[in-house]
Amino acid sequence: MLLGINRCKLASPKATIRFTTVEGQRYNGSRADLTFSCRPKLLMSHSLAIYPGSFDPITNGHLDLIKRGSLLFDTLIVAILTNLEKEPLFTVSERVDMLREAVGGMPNVSVDTFSGLLVEYAERKKAQAILRGIRAFSDYEYELQMALMNRKLAPELETVFLMPAETYTYLSSRLVKEIIRHGGSVEGLVPEPVEDRLRKKVFPHQF
Ligand code: PNS
Repeated sequence: MLLGINRCKLASPKATIRFTTVEGQRYNGSRADLTFSCRPKLLMSHSLAIYPGSFDPITNGHLDLIKRGSLLFDTLIVAILTNLEKEPLFTVSERVDMLREAVGGMPNVSVDTFSGLLVEYAERKKAQAILRGIRAFSDYEYELQMALMNRKLAPELETVFLMPAETYTYLSSRLVKEIIRHGGSVEGLVPEPVEDRLRKKVFPHQF
């Protein structure tokens, strides 16, 4: 019985698992074939999640989600997509620096970059979950579409949605950039070093 699993060991990043039930029966097969009752158990063995995004730049909303994710998973990798369709304001290395600075005190959080398909990157990292934030209903349609497409590509990979603190439900990197370009204040919306970098980037002649 799957509910009676007493040892559940991931055998490979490719969705194969081996475990022994409390009754002593052995299972060696596909993770996708298992019922959902086993999956929380799998997540508990050593959970690794990927939090992907453009992070152009990181906001306090992202940071809030990273903190929540770091409490939920043993390891959290914040992964910056390098081949963005739109032209980013910050280079990849600037975004990596800002993220590393922001997550500095969190021992189980690391920062990385990826290109190509997210599910392939997740598989290389042996991740069990993708972490994404949902701020409002408006996010839901896009996030659902992405999560279901990722599930189609990699059925064993779960997408986990978390809500940021209410204070950040209206916050986005796009709006932060717009405010800065029009001379407004983004105090409290992004980490302080990010605010400085934003001003220097948008108004280089003033520094
Ligand atoms: O911060 P964003 O722009 O909302 O992040 C979007 C991101 C990076 C998560 C998404 O565009 C992505 O995963 N891109 C990688 C390419 C990929 O796997 N595309 C198929 C997604 S269904």
